[in-house]
Formats: sequence, structure tokens, C-alpha cells
Amino acid sequence: MSEPLYPQTIGQQFGRRSWAEPWKIKMVEPIRLISRPERERALQEAGYNTFLLRSEDVYIDLLTDSGTSAMSDRQWAGLMLGDEAYAGSRNFYHLQDAVRTYYGYKYVVPTHQGRGAEHLISKALIRPGDIIPGNMYFTTTRLHQELAGGTFVDVIIDEAHDPSSEHPFKGNVDLDKLETLIKKVGAEKIPYVSLAGTVNMAGGQPVSMANVRALRELCQRYDIPIYLDATRMAENAYFIQTREPGYADKSIAAILKEFCSYTDGAWMSAKKDHLVNIGGWLAVNDESVLETARNLVVVYEGLHTYGGMSGRDMEALAIGIEEAVQDDHIRARVGQVHYLGELLTDWGIPIVQPVGGHAVFLDAKRFYPHIPQNEFPAQTLAAQLYLDSGIRSMERGVVSAGRDPETGDHRYPALELVRLTIPRRVYTQAHMDVTAEAVKAVYDARKQTRGLRMVYEPKYLRFFQARFEPLNKH
Ligand code: F0G
Repeated sequence: MSEPLYPQTIGQQFGRRSWAEPWKIKMVEPIRLISRPERERALQEAGYNTFLLRSEDVYIDLLTDSGTSAMSDRQWAGLMLGDEAYAGSRNFYHLQDAVRTYYGYKYVVPTHQGRGAEHLISKALIRPGDIIPGNMYFTTTRLHQELAGGTFVDVIIDEAHDPSSEHPFKGNVDLDKLETLIKKVGAEKIPYVSLAGTVNMAGGQPVSMANVRALRELCQRYDIPIYLDATRMAENAYFIQTREPGYADKSIAAILKEFCSYTDGAWMSAKKDHLVNIGGWLAVNDESVLETARNLVVVYEGLHTYGGMSGRDMEALAIGIEEAVQDDHIRARVGQVHYLGELLTDWGIPIVQPVGGHAVFLDAKRFYPHIPQNEFPAQTLAAQLYLDSGIRSMERGVVSAGRDPETGDHRYPALELVRLTIPRRVYTQAHMDVTAEAVKAVYDARKQTRGLRMVYEPKYLRFFQARFEPLNKH
């Protein structure tokens, strides 16, 4: 293991040497905490769903790290260099060069955000009846696979479903599970393995280099390609650097490129790692897949040299790709998440361990053991946190998991979590302290808290728009 990551944690010995963020602040955006009665009203109007709150009613917004980053001065300057030609914008070529340089894939198709790229790759590769194995589902990824006629099968290691397992690479694929599945359904039914870096729904847990290398070897034997969800792969590279033997002296950029070299292509939500507010891409090595994706992109997104982004968006994105792989940036980014995780751990609050790359995940099952899963403990916890302090978090449990398309019943995931997601380069350590203290206050009041019932449920991705009511007022 390398040196301790978080030397600025309170109570360390005199003479310590702290690290700090590799940036200073040039412009600020005021935020405001509305009163408790105003928060009660706002939450009720939002149907106890944090997605339905107005952002002006939120004090510290930890809903997501998606599209919420602060851009750098260089990225803002890049906006002025937007070439808004319909076709062949110079900014597209910058974006393509950046993806080639840092991810190593041959061809790039831009999309408006990650799910646009998921749509293209799912439509290009999946035939009705196909099986898509992956290291835990992600909401939009699985939905696009299902809409294309496929069925997602989870082949992540068992430790990923256990919030207290300290396994350093809980995102790893269980190669035995995968091989058993291949033998059962036949390799020709599996268009690709859907591999995600720092698995979001498992708590931001990484995949090791050894695992992706072994996966490559297995897939090669059966002639099955690997497509990577690269959304938070730079953060995954940081965990390889700090936890996997042999990588401590390699740069984030070198680790990222090596990891991608074991895969056949990737889709990207640039709204995360790449420090922009909108954008995404699909990258592939196979020319025939490129051909299909480039044809589909003009149907669903826009021409293949803008894919739903403006020229200026592509320029900011190209610059963000380079900034995202700087070692000091990633260390500060993940370091801030871990600072919050350490405070909560020290106070005995149940969270997913080890703390992941983009968020601290509260374990709602252990937080509220008296609330059964069909009364939405994680949704309840997110609502209570907002009431206490105006902090917005996100449910990642039974509401996010949705219903089984076959049986129509709720899917009951092992993990019933609330995500405190940290935007990049946006909040300070003081905001992390305020957040930790708020979670502690909600934890101290846990025994009096009752669950929720769902009163409105949309058909797709219900967590975004579902509405709830308290089971009984307290
Ligand atoms: N893959 C992963 C792992 C994601 O986390 C997301 C989005 C997507 C794909 C889809 O990308 O939003 O750009 O269309 N995650 C957001 C989140 C919404 O809050 O975790 P998108």
C-alpha cells in the first residue's frame, strides 16, 4: 500500500504534511439553505423524491457527479473556440485525437451523453434473445440492452453485493460465473461482455488490471468482444495505482490506456470523468461496428461529427479528457470522497466499504433495520437528509432497481443504498464536514423514522419520477 491518503483528517499529529486541491477558485456561485418549514413543503411537493426538488431549494447538491463538475479556465476558454459548422467541426477532430491518445481506440462517434452511446452500441450489437453478461447492472445501460431485445445477466463477484466486504476490487468479474453462463447459453448468444470501470451501483468499486487481463483471455477463447463503460475509468485507474502491485509508479494515463487495450471499445458519459456539463462518445476498433454506429448516430443524435453536441461542447470535452487523467487531479478528487467516508466511518455510520471513487454510499438496510425494503428505506433516508439540512442525495436501492419485466414484481437488490455523490472541483472540505454532521443527525434520529409508500410509478427508470407519501407522519 502507498502512503496514507488522507493526512488532513482531524486529530493527526503535529508536523503533518497535508495535500490540497491542485486549483484555486476564480468564480463563486452562491448557495443558500432555506428554512425547515420551507424544506418540508418543498419535499412534499416533490413527492419525497429528491429528483423532483428544485435545485434552488437545495443547499449542498450531492444528487450526482454527472454534469455537475466545475470546468477549468482552459475549458471555458475552449468554449470560445467552438467551430459550429454542421459538418466536420474542428472540435470533433480535437475530441477524436484526445480519445485516441488517452483511451487508445481507433474510431470515435460523439453522442449527446452516455445513454446516447449505450443506445447505439446496444442497437448495433444485440439481437433479440441475446444475453449480455456484465459486472452489475447500471440503470440506463441495462434498459438499452433490454430495449434492443437482450437480457442482462450479472456476473460480478459475490463480494460486490456485500456492503461490508473490504475486497479491494469489488467491481471484478467472476470468471467462473461468466464461463458457466457461456457454456449454458452458448457463445453465439453473447454479443459482448458489458464491463464497467468503478461499478456505480456497487458503490463506485473498481476492477483490477489482473481481472480485465484474465477476462480478455477468457473472452478471446470464446471469441466474445468486451465493451467497456468508461464513464469513471480514470477513477478506476487511481485504485489500480494505489492498490494493485506493480502499478504504484505508473501514471493514471498509462494505467487507463493499458486497461482499455484489453477491451474492444467503450461508451462514455463525459459528464463524469471528463469534467464537462454535457457530452459523451462511443469508441470502437472494429470497422464494421463503426459503420453501423455511424449510421445510427445520424438517426438518433446528429451528424457523426457532432452527435448532439455543439462544437464548443466538444472543445471543452477534448480539454477535459486531458485534465481528467492528471495524477494530482484524481488524487484530490478521490481524496475528497474518502475524507467524507472516513468521517462517517469514524462515527460508526453504516456505509459501503471500501469507499469508492465518486461517492459515499450509506447502507440504508443497516441504517433503518426496522423499515422493510418494500417501504423504501433508502428513499426514506434521502428524504430525511434533505429535511435535516437541505442536502440532496440519491436513492440506489429497490426504487432504482425497478420491476422484473417477466413477473412485474419489484426487483429487491441486496444493496439498498443512498448515494452522496461528490461533484468534481465544486465543494470544499467544509461542505464535507457539514454533510457528515447532517448524516450523523439523521442517524441519531433513526429509530423514530418511518418508511414511505409509492403513489405514482412511471414505466421506465421509475426512480427519476416516482412519487411517495410518508406511511405515517411523525
Ligand atoms: N454509465 C454509468 C456507469 C453511469 O453512471 C451513467 C450515468 C451512464 C452510464 C449514463 O450516462 O447520464 O450521460 O446518459 N450516471 C448518472 C449518475 C446519471 O448519476 O450516476 P448519461
